[in-house]
Amino acid sequence: MGSAVLHFAGLRVDPPLLLAPMAGLTHSALRRLLLELGGVGLLTTEMLAAKRLPHDNPRLSPYLIRHESERPLAYQLLLIRREDAAPAVETLHRLGAEAIDLNLGCPAPEIRRLGGGSQLMEEPAAVGRLVREVRRRTGLPLSAKIRLGEELDARRLRDFCLMLEGEGVDLVTVHARLRGESFGRKPRWEWVAKVKSWLKIPVVANGGIFSGAEAVECLAATGADGLMIGRAAATHPWIFREIAVHFGCPAPPEFDRTALYLRFIALLEESFPPERRLGRLKEFTHYYARNYRFGHWLAAKVQASGTMEQASDRVAQFFRQNSR
Ligand SMILES: Cc1cc2nc3c(=O)[nH]c(=O)nc-3n(C[C@H](O)[C@H](O)[C@H](O)COP(=O)(O)O)c2cc1C
Repeated sequence: MGSAVLHFAGLRVDPPLLLAPMAGLTHSALRRLLLELGGVGLLTTEMLAAKRLPHDNPRLSPYLIRHESERPLAYQLLLIRREDAAPAVETLHRLGAEAIDLNLGCPAPEIRRLGGGSQLMEEPAAVGRLVREVRRRTGLPLSAKIRLGEELDARRLRDFCLMLEGEGVDLVTVHARLRGESFGRKPRWEWVAKVKSWLKIPVVANGGIFSGAEAVECLAATGADGLMIGRAAATHPWIFREIAVHFGCPAPPEFDRTALYLRFIALLEESFPPERRLGRLKEFTHYYARNYRFGHWLAAKVQASGTMEQASDRVAQFFRQNSR
């Protein structure tokens, strides 16, 4: 197994397991649930539009609400225009960010049309200017999250990664798929190994890790310094704890899946104003319901609920009828 601690520009990520930024999912309630279960080395927000960030109220914005226990927490920026960098970074300093991540991999067409996410990988010179500007404004650990690009092109990818390192990025996370590849495709671990061989800074592997065994396989295949986990954090939030065993952490107890789901609802209620809860419950349930044999029923009923009360009644009904 790899090293038990990842050193990321002065930040200790211990164990070296990072939560992946996921829009609609990686908010305060999920982060607190994960912390309670243990095994996460670095938390994250979902992507935050740099342009809007300075105007959001951190006590009211569901993207910025944060409990004091949530640390270390990286904030992911969707940064497209250089002039948005300084106000966004200043805001993150005020919010007490422990790290800043730049989204260079999002394949969503609406983000690409704005020139952001994976579209940025097509414009290395522009990315260089953005990174330089952010680096100039912050001493915080700075990471970049990328995909493999538009097509497999080792030279292009290598130049891009070396450019990031040269401009002062402290860590690169590689989602091991091309821009157009779906989640159904097996990740290309050998390409993370290539990135690792090119860079001096730490490299984190991401994509398709749903079990301790897959984590071990990925580390062996990539030689990565850490792993980033996305959807599995929502389908089985104990995944970090399960993987952490391979880094010398104690074995997890048996988790009660229903109690965890109810705890998530309680955390939503504690963290967010009423109008911000139901959408987040629907998003989480879409993933978590896979733990139950009749989970599609639970997901459909929560999805069709018009209020949090209605959803809670349907959840209670489901658990009365289906404990497995
Ligand atoms: C619902 C959802 C939202 C996502 N939102 C973001 C995002 O805001 N920023 C980002 O860089 N990647 C985003 N991603 C991609 C994940 O961070 C991650 O790279 C991807 O899910 C692969 O990892 P996994 O197989 O462990 O889920 C999102 C993925 C999902 C499923």
